[in-house]
Amino acid sequence: MPERCVLAYSGGLDTSVAVAWIRETYGYDVVTCTADLGNVADLNAVQQKAIASGAAKAVVVDARDVFVTFFVWPALQAGALYQDKYPLATALGRPLIAKLLVDTARDEGAKYVAHGSTGKGNDQVRFDLAVHALAPDLVVVAPMRGGMNMSREEEMAYAKQRAIPVPVTKKSPYSVDENLWGRSIEAGVLEDPWQAPPRDVYQWTVDPNEAPERPSVAVVGFEQGVPVSLDGKPLTGPALIEALNALAGKHGVGRIDMVEDRLVGIKSREIYEAPAAVTLHAAHMALEEMVLSRDVQRFKRQVAQEYARVVYEGLWFSAHHQDLAAYVRSTQRFVSGEVKLQLHRGAVTVVGRKSPNALYQEALATYSKADRFDHKAAEGFITVFGLPLRTQARAQRLWAADDTAALDVPRRAIEAPASAPAVKRKQRASQPRPKLGR
Ligand code: ARG
Repeated sequence: MPERCVLAYSGGLDTSVAVAWIRETYGYDVVTCTADLGNVADLNAVQQKAIASGAAKAVVVDARDVFVTFFVWPALQAGALYQDKYPLATALGRPLIAKLLVDTARDEGAKYVAHGSTGKGNDQVRFDLAVHALAPDLVVVAPMRGGMNMSREEEMAYAKQRAIPVPVTKKSPYSVDENLWGRSIEAGVLEDPWQAPPRDVYQWTVDPNEAPERPSVAVVGFEQGVPVSLDGKPLTGPALIEALNALAGKHGVGRIDMVEDRLVGIKSREIYEAPAAVTLHAAHMALEEMVLSRDVQRFKRQVAQEYARVVYEGLWFSAHHQDLAAYVRSTQRFVSGEVKLQLHRGAVTVVGRKSPNALYQEALATYSKADRFDHKAAEGFITVFGLPLRTQARAQRLWAADDTAALDVPRRAIEAPASAPAVKRKQRASQPRPKLGR
């Protein structure tokens, strides 16, 4: 019996050709594996196409719930934005697809798994590393990284010769990857970072200049850092994300245009559309401001950067990720409540937040009569808090006139007319010498 190879199959031209190419080049039986992460319109059609392309078997999985529950929500809870911008849609999808490849390989007794990533991107690293971590005995085959080397025209000809169905629609001038959490677009004219993205780059978001004049308001409910409702209506993860992608997209929210540092060392111009992700990150952050202590807020920002890097670099199935995730989960115990957002012409603005666990206390914050804060106590606090500054000022004269010369601004003054009644000043006894701690 020939060896089996499980190929991550999208139904596109590249992976369709790869089915035949792997079979003919290595003599393996190819089992395709297609996961719907919110990006596959018709799994049955993809399955048929895989068989028509020469697959021995075509496996499909609806992985949307798992994707959201175990990949998207933890990343949202972490506040994971690569380079403070990219919500990591593609990066979060890859380890799940790799996991499904490994499971299928086990079912099929396959020694090989394959993917259609090129040798220049991050996705190859993510697939390979995830497979290595889950199944070090499996061998990864990546035809697009070496061996297959076909131009699009060659792929079309190769497919036609073998009666492999070829795309009937015109090829997009971009390289696109999509799932529920976002759409990643690269290549074509985008490779010139001075070029504004042409209209056809965007499919999920309207141009903010053409977005409705009137804003929409949305209320997102969170339970321990996980979005659970929209406008008071409980929704499953995928449904909530789909609803927000549509609503925020209609208002032009969620466009990201950045130059990104790829793991392989290349800087790359990337466009993302992530209306739900951008909206939910804004909402989640706003709720955290209400319920997390200052220390956790500060430290968690560092964890968020590290978490984003680990996800971006394909280290999902690492101990380091497990440890970071455990910290993140613990921080989310009190992150429950609601956030009110306004979506308008490309901007998402938080306009309200509430939580039963809020550390925000109106009685402490208020400037009104209801104030319960002890103003007098602030003096003692400042005396101690400022002690190092006063000590340094006395001992080292840090801010001598020379040091602040650049800040000098001409002073202008006028005198009150001599006729004005002079204020009678009390003759003051000389000031008491300050204590050393003062
Ligand atoms: N640069 C992004 C990332 O590394 C998006 C990659 C998109 N992949 C693609 N085949 N177009 O996560």
